[in-house]
Amino acid sequence: MPSFIPSTPQVIAQNVTELIGHTDLLRINSLSEITGCEILLKCEQQNPGGSIKDRAALQMVNDAIAANKLRSGMTIIEGTAGNTGIGLALIAKAYGFKMLAVMPKGQAKDKEKMIALHGAQLMLVDACPFADPNHFYHTAKRLAQENTNYWWADQFENMSNFKAHYSTTAVEIWQQTQGKIDALVSVAGTGGTIAGNSCYLSQQNPKLQTWLVDPYGSGIYAYLKTGKYQATGSSFTEGIGIMRSVENFRQAKINKAISLPDQDLVTISRELSQLDGILLGSSSALNVAGALYAAAKMGSGNTIVTFCCDLAERSYDKLYNSKFLIDRKIDTDHESLTSMYTRYQHEPQSAVVNVYQ
Ligand SMILES: Cc1ncc(COP(=O)(O)O)c(C=O)c1O
Repeated sequence: MPSFIPSTPQVIAQNVTELIGHTDLLRINSLSEITGCEILLKCEQQNPGGSIKDRAALQMVNDAIAANKLRSGMTIIEGTAGNTGIGLALIAKAYGFKMLAVMPKGQAKDKEKMIALHGAQLMLVDACPFADPNHFYHTAKRLAQENTNYWWADQFENMSNFKAHYSTTAVEIWQQTQGKIDALVSVAGTGGTIAGNSCYLSQQNPKLQTWLVDPYGSGIYAYLKTGKYQATGSSFTEGIGIMRSVENFRQAKINKAISLPDQDLVTISRELSQLDGILLGSSSALNVAGALYAAAKMGSGNTIVTFCCDLAERSYDKLYNSKFLIDRKIDTDHESLTSMYTRYQHEPQSAVVNVYQ
């Protein structure tokens, strides 16, 4: 008879929020072999809400409860591209709060559905520039000001977001790599991920290089290069890219910045699916393209860590939609990983912004 008694004692989580964090670190074999680097993926889609934003959501809620800002009977409100809304919605249910997510129209339908399935109220507003008072961020802020019973999470300015990554994600990466990490590569939305991780990891290893990878259409790359937020092109990625300075991003210890086109993240998504059995969402595919770029410029022998930010199915409507890609003149069979790597090796150094802080 096979024995079903586990060799190590099982720890039973007492609440769904206890499942947040402690995600796996996965070697991307295809890229590691081509580059001679160890390219590692922190599997944040394993969080119960399916994204890295569960960590920020949990820390923001826990800190607000501890500070008596969020009390029994109150409603959590947040403006969100979706993933933070899903994280907050599941935490709200687990803790017994109500939740209202204000989302711009045009984000993945899966994210809208998940927020509703977690029992949160969803308010969809027209997508518009930040300067417009009807922008989802301003709408959430205004509703919170008008209702004393609402607590606004404010993920862009709330430093609990940074703290979540500084005190959990980065510590896990340091332990999982046993301190062997030469570079960290990350996209930025609020900047909580890149800031919290780069601060903690560069304190452990002052030689660590942090690479910011920005999609076309976001202004961070231009800001780091010229001091001004200017967008070039437009990307279909969701939840990343920003056109203004926010508190979480300001903490980031960035050494290098690059900007990559959607074509590259599409190529990476198809290649990793074929070669490694890894399905990525669009911001995650951009992260992995950034890791390949960093490897091309840093040379072999380095350990490079990046993030799988959310579940691939949240990118089904765009990244995995052939018609959508054809309309954008993006090719699903554009080049191999090897030719992409060679192209990145030959890209002029001037394409990489050296950030001195
Ligand atoms: C899919 C996805 N990737 C990356 C990010 C960026 O994370 P951060 O806000 O920590 O910069 C987000 C943020 O919402 C996201 O939704």
